[in-house]
Amino acid sequence: MPKSIIFFLLTLFTSTSSSNPNPLPLTPLTTAHSVLTRHGFPVGLLPTDVLSYHLNRTSGDFSVDLGRPCRLILPPDNYLATYSKKVTGKIVENRIAELSGIRVRAFFQWWGITGIKISGDDLVFEVGMVTAKYPSKNFDEIPQCEGKKHSSS
Ligand SMILES: *[C@@H]1O[C@H](CO)[C@@H](O)[C@H](O)[C@H]1NC(C)=O
Repeated sequence: MPKSIIFFLLTLFTSTSSSNPNPLPLTPLTTAHSVLTRHGFPVGLLPTDVLSYHLNRTSGDFSVDLGRPCRLILPPDNYLATYSKKVTGKIVENRIAELSGIRVRAFFQWWGITGIKISGDDLVFEVGMVTAKYPSKNFDEIPQCEGKKHSSS
């Protein structure tokens, strides 16, 4: 089982940035994205649509309001990832813990990402007790929520 999860995550995360046929123009960084970079993380961990962001600089507790739930279909294998309207966690140098609100679907189940750590040039994703490591550079582009074009008036 863990082996299949790792295979899935590997496919998922190696395919997100490399196979987008229409790369987005550079989006101005929101505060939430710059908080990620200040703590050593790549911007691609949050989608473009951040409505508001709160950070307790003492504890590292944060909450990100996306305004609505966000779905991303990840090519080429069409894995589905969702962000809840509100994503919460605790960010400190090189580590995001107590993460809630980000899930990926595989093998007919949803897998919640519970934490993310930086290890050299890699990100270590925690899905419960299972961890999997991917190059941080796979997350250099900010992903866009599905259906965004239809929601702007
Ligand atoms: C921020 O976190 C600290 C430490 O946990 C806590 O004492 C403080 O009340 C928090 N501040 C706010 C505004 O929540």
